[in-house]
Amino acid sequence: MAERKAMSKASPVLLVVISLGFCFATYNFLTMLMHHIAIKRWAADEKTDYLLTDPLVEMPHSLKRLKRPGARFHVALTATDAVYNKWQCRIMYYWYKKQKDLLGSDMGGFTRILHSGKPDNLMDEIPTMVVDPLPEGQDRGYVVLNRPWAFVQWLEKATIKEEYILMAEPDHVFVRPLPNLADDRFPAAFPFFYIRPDQNEKIVRKYYPEEKGPVTNVDPIGNSPVIIKKDTLKMTAPTWMNVSIKMKEDPETDKTFGWVLEMYAYAIASALHGVQHILRKDFMLQPPWDLKTDNKFIIHYTYGCDYNMKGELTYGKIGEWRFDKRSHLSGPPPRNITMPPPGVPESVVTLVKMVNEASANIPNWDTL
Ligand SMILES: *[C@@H]1O[C@H](CO)[C@@H](O)[C@H](O)[C@H]1NC(C)=O
Ligand SMILES: *[C@@H]1O[C@H](CO)[C@@H](O)[C@H](O)[C@H]1NC(C)=O
Repeated sequence: MAERKAMSKASPVLLVVISLGFCFATYNFLTMLMHHIAIKRWAADEKTDYLLTDPLVEMPHSLKRLKRPGARFHVALTATDAVYNKWQCRIMYYWYKKQKDLLGSDMGGFTRILHSGKPDNLMDEIPTMVVDPLPEGQDRGYVVLNRPWAFVQWLEKATIKEEYILMAEPDHVFVRPLPNLADDRFPAAFPFFYIRPDQNEKIVRKYYPEEKGPVTNVDPIGNSPVIIKKDTLKMTAPTWMNVSIKMKEDPETDKTFGWVLEMYAYAIASALHGVQHILRKDFMLQPPWDLKTDNKFIIHYTYGCDYNMKGELTYGKIGEWRFDKRSHLSGPPPRNITMPPPGVPESVVTLVKMVNEASANIPNWDTL
C-alpha cells in the first residue's frame, strides 16, 4: 500500500519528466526541420542551387559568432580622388564613425586607400594612405584594376593593428554595427548572383587549371565586401593583381567578364590559394531590389532607384522620383534630398535618410 502510494505520488513527476523529454526531442526535431527549410528557402532565393552543396555556406540567421578579443577588423576603403568617389567616401566614413562603437560592432580602424598617387583635399577629414596607381596605360581604362595593386602596396607599407580587414567600397553605407563575420579559418563574403564561375568554365579554366580542382571551388564573389585575415590577404593579393592584369590582357576574358572582371580575378586568386569564403547574404543589401534593411549590415547603392509618384519602380526608365549615384558624377548630391513618395520600399527610404543625415552633418558638403 505504501508502495502504491509512493508510485501514485511519483507518477505525475515521472509523467512530467517523460513529457518534458518528449517535448525536448520534438523541439530538436522541429529546429532541425526549420533549419533545413531555411537552408532550402535561402538557396532558392539566391537562384544558385549549387550553393546547397557548398559546405561553407553559413545561414544568414545564424547567430553563431566569433566572440573573442582581437577579432576586430580594419575598414579598408579603396578610392580615387574623383569628386564622384569623394562624396561617397564622406558618407561612408560618416556612417562608419556612427556605427563603430555601438553594441555588436567589431569595427576597428579605418583607412581610405587613395590609389590616385597624390593627396587630395579630404586628407584631414578621412584617415588616408596614398598609394600609386598602376603604370600609365596598364589599367586600359578600367580603373578598378588598380584595387588589387592598391591593397598590395597598403599591406606592405601600413602598420595595421587589427588581425582582420574589411574590403569596402565608397558606395557602401553601414546600416548597423558590423560584427566580424569571418572566423579563423574562413573569410566572409557576399555572394553575387551574377558571378557564376560554373557557367563560365571555359574562361575560368584559363586561370584555374583542372588540377586545382572543380570550378565550383571558385566562390561567386568579388573582393568587396569581404572580411578576411590580414595574413590571408597578404598571401592572395599579389595573385589577385596578376590574375586581374592577365584577364584584362586577354580579349576573350575581357569581353566576357566586362565590368565584373576584377571580381572574378579576386574569386579565382582566392581559389588558387585554396581560400574559400563563408557566403553571407545578410552582409549587404542592394536597393531597389532588396526591399528591407532588416538584419543586414551594408547598403550598397550601386543601382539607380527610379519610382513614379505612385511609388512604383520604373527601373531602366528615369522616374519622377529618383536617387541614382550616377546623377552626381561631377558634384555631390544636394543636402536634404526629397524623400521618395509613399509606397517606396523601406530600403530606399532608409538609404535617402542616411545620405541626408550624413550630408547635413558634414561641414562644407558642397565644396569638393
Ligand atoms: C606576378 O607576375 C609577375 C610578373 O609576371 C611575377 O614576377 C610575379 O612572380 C607574379 N606574382 C605572383 C604572386 O603570381
Ligand atoms: C528638408 O526638406 C523638407 C521639404 O522637402 C523640409 O520640410 C525640411 O524642413 C528640410 N529639412 C532641412 C533640415 O532643411
